[in-house]
Amino acid sequence: MSHKQAARIAPSILSADFARLGEEVKNVVLAGADWVHFDVMDNHYVPNLTFGPMICSALRPHTEAPIDVHLMVEPVDSLVEPFAKAGANLISFHPEASRHIDRTLSLIRDQGCKAGLVFNPAVGLEWMDHVMDKLDLVLIMSVNPGFGGQKFIPHALEKLRQARQKIDRWVEEGGQPISLEVDGGVNVQNIGAIRAAGADAFVAGSAIFNQPDYKAVIDAMRQEIAKVDSQA
Ligand code: DX5
Ligand code: ZN
Repeated sequence: MSHKQAARIAPSILSADFARLGEEVKNVVLAGADWVHFDVMDNHYVPNLTFGPMICSALRPHTEAPIDVHLMVEPVDSLVEPFAKAGANLISFHPEASRHIDRTLSLIRDQGCKAGLVFNPAVGLEWMDHVMDKLDLVLIMSVNPGFGGQKFIPHALEKLRQARQKIDRWVEEGGQPISLEVDGGVNVQNIGAIRAAGADAFVAGSAIFNQPDYKAVIDAMRQEIAKVDSQA
């Protein structure tokens, strides 16, 4: 049995207008976003540089929606507490970027945030197996991290199905719920197939922020998801 949760749309503000970030966050939440996806890049783990805890804390008063922090940084641990203090609700990181994955997950939860592991296209899901009890979120990358606006890598669908199976087995054995999120190249055309593969949280940057009407895009995404759910 599938333990897929209600669908959550998490617009990535990487593609928003950085000169008007507060307003962009407000607008996208008014347009129906469930989470605000916050891509942290350090020009070390990934070849790009974005924003840190100070920007997160500046955005915090602009919305009550959960802030979903995606750390593309190395090392990881030193940024956990600053992001928790800055108002992050979920914090996820790439396992290869942490020396001690179990410790990093505990650190995130000890700070009162939900903890997630992120899997690059060429990284295997085995990392999950030993830390299932410490996971609130698993994020499958459907592009190589570093930039918005890339094309969805189709192999991510198979990986989502495998992650779905692992999570469903875990929940059936009495484990806590774990969200299954996807990130990269998600749009109205492919979101149905992604839902069918097992995702319950959907990051979308350019597909939303490159359009004038955010609500129209989010509504269309929900419709595609509803079509798949009604067939299940
Ligand atoms: C890529 C980021 C993504 C990205 C998604 O490294 O993690 O969150 O912003 O952007 P789109 O939806 O444009 O692929
Ligand atoms: Zn991201």
